[in-house]
Amino acid sequence: MTEPAVQAPSWRIVVGVTGGIAAYKAVSVIRSLVLLGHHVDVIATESALRFVGAPTLEAISRNPIRTDLYENVDTVQHVSIGQSADVIAVVPATANTIAKLAAGMADDLLTNSILASRSPVVVAPAMHTEMWQHPATQANASRLDERGVTLVGPDSGRLTGNDEGPGRLAETDEIVNAILAAARRGVRERQDAERARDLVGQDILVTAGGTREPIDPVRFLGNRSSGRQGVAVAARAAERGAEVTLVAANIEVQPPENVNVIRVSSAQQMANACAELAPRHSMIVMAAAVADFRPEHEQAGKIKKESTGDDLTLTFVKNPDILRSLVEVRSQDQLIVGFAAETEEDEAARLDLARAKIARKGCDYLVLNRVGWNHGFGREETEIQILNLAGEVVSEAVGDKLSVADVILDLANLDVANRD
Ligand code: C5P
Repeated sequence: MTEPAVQAPSWRIVVGVTGGIAAYKAVSVIRSLVLLGHHVDVIATESALRFVGAPTLEAISRNPIRTDLYENVDTVQHVSIGQSADVIAVVPATANTIAKLAAGMADDLLTNSILASRSPVVVAPAMHTEMWQHPATQANASRLDERGVTLVGPDSGRLTGNDEGPGRLAETDEIVNAILAAARRGVRERQDAERARDLVGQDILVTAGGTREPIDPVRFLGNRSSGRQGVAVAARAAERGAEVTLVAANIEVQPPENVNVIRVSSAQQMANACAELAPRHSMIVMAAAVADFRPEHEQAGKIKKESTGDDLTLTFVKNPDILRSLVEVRSQDQLIVGFAAETEEDEAARLDLARAKIARKGCDYLVLNRVGWNHGFGREETEIQILNLAGEVVSEAVGDKLSVADVILDLANLDVANRD
């Protein structure tokens, strides 16, 4: 089974190497990060270079090694390296460097870079057991932890001499995973800060959930949409400052508190609500799964098997295509985003379906996701591609439904800003 190839993000990672015997193990951490496609800048302390050579670190990181605070002073690198990093990791971190970080000292390029940066910091201590267990080191490590620094290890085990105990550098994979998790969190926090309130002044109409088409008073024709993605779009749009109206059809999750919620059940009800509300909105995001057909007649009473015999035939009639009708009557400056949930496994075939769909619907963007028993519906994680009216993939995202919602809103907001 081929999964759509959504590229993992590539981050700017600063790895600080300090002077302990475990410095040689930093090489495999750096190598793993580089092989995963990240940009790695190494800052080595003078004493680190007594344990591992600059040529090794340069070859493995594929970048020049920096050590000297007084080198390239014109580029203010003691500030710039840390500030442009998505994460700073110290591997290994000696008791001395941990003490300096805890005290906020800045007497070399590494500690200067960390102090000048607001990126997440990951520290992997390695030292002799006595040094690690010394109350001074323990207090310094606790201060870092309280300040939000991620401490990885140390592990317990064989140390450099014949001694054993806590103080061994954590395993490479554990350190790499902690660095990537911190980078992900840091990037997310930075994007959140940048996005804060960027949708003030927008009125956004969002549909969510799955319609139910009544067969009789107790039965309906429905679908497996939980409404999570539409609710996530509504929630993030409101957090980013928009006035949001959510037309919710049978959603399985709580709607956000700060949005105006209109409850509907059938496609016809959703069509009526949208037709009335749409003209007052600058953006429309149609995330609901709308039934294409409904039973021609809703039976007044419950259908009884005793009265139908062995077969039951129901006639279905077509529902209005809400999205297309909103596109037909919209004003020029209204932006409309549709959704396409496709079960097609082959990515190229799925994209072809999406291209045909956006051409039919005429909306500005179409968010394509793959659904099926193990994909899409009801799950927290999702994977999307966004096509424009020309059928080009203009954005893609993988992650939880809130972060995917942000990507959709980023694109819509950029488009609206470019129209002004
Ligand atoms: O036509 P299809 O259901 O594949 O298209 C999906 C998109 O169209 C979604 O954005 C959905 O909300 C919208 N839609 C609609 N009215 C329908 C069917 C789908 O607005 N009757």
